[in-house]
Amino acid sequence: MSQKSSAFKSAIVFGVVALAVVLYFLHLYSDDSAEPTPAITEVKDSAAAGTAAAPEPATPEKLWLSSAELVGKGQEAFQRNCAVCHGKEGKGDGPAAKGLVPPPRNLVDGKWKQGGTTQELFVTLKKGIAGTSMPGFPQISKQERWALVHFIRSVTTDRPADNAEALEKFALAEGD
Ligand code: HEC
Repeated sequence: MSQKSSAFKSAIVFGVVALAVVLYFLHLYSDDSAEPTPAITEVKDSAAAGTAAAPEPATPEKLWLSSAELVGKGQEAFQRNCAVCHGKEGKGDGPAAKGLVPPPRNLVDGKWKQGGTTQELFVTLKKGIAGTSMPGFPQISKQERWALVHFIRSVTTDRPADNAEALEKFALAEGD
């Protein structure tokens, strides 16, 4: 009987010790796991902030660099503002083209009088061409103006190369 009870006691002692060890490790583990939780929340928060600010990266700040998105916007703006004279495809044959002297440029052929680089086209759109019916478009947004330029350069066969550095300098100083 006494042997049995001492075995029983050791079983209890072992059980208690084992429980203590388990609880100790559980405690350690829960301490460890308590740490990452705020970190994860932070990551989620900044990810959420990133989502809120998403329109920014989607519309790159470097508007002077062409992209499919800007060309698409330019095409849309072209139909609204320019097709009446320059034609839907930019071939100079819009409904208002008849009788205009000089006639609206066939933008696909190019043969630019003011120049066909990205920068030169941008200036033409902003200022228009004095003494002709080509108006300036100071009222359209900066993004739309760049988009129109990219659209024109996407459809023309007369596309003189840009000087990337000079273009960036111009765009940062006067590209609005
Ligand atoms: C009222 C008619 C009219 C509208 C609207 C018009 N243009 Fe023009 N555009 C002209 C005419 C006319 C010329 C030719 C001027 C010349 O021969 O000097 C011209 C010339 C141009 C040129 C050639 C510049 C060069 O260097 O030879 C570009 C580029 C141009 N237009 C772009 C546009 C864009 C983009 C729009 C719309 C945002 C637009 N135009 C709207 C009439 C128009």
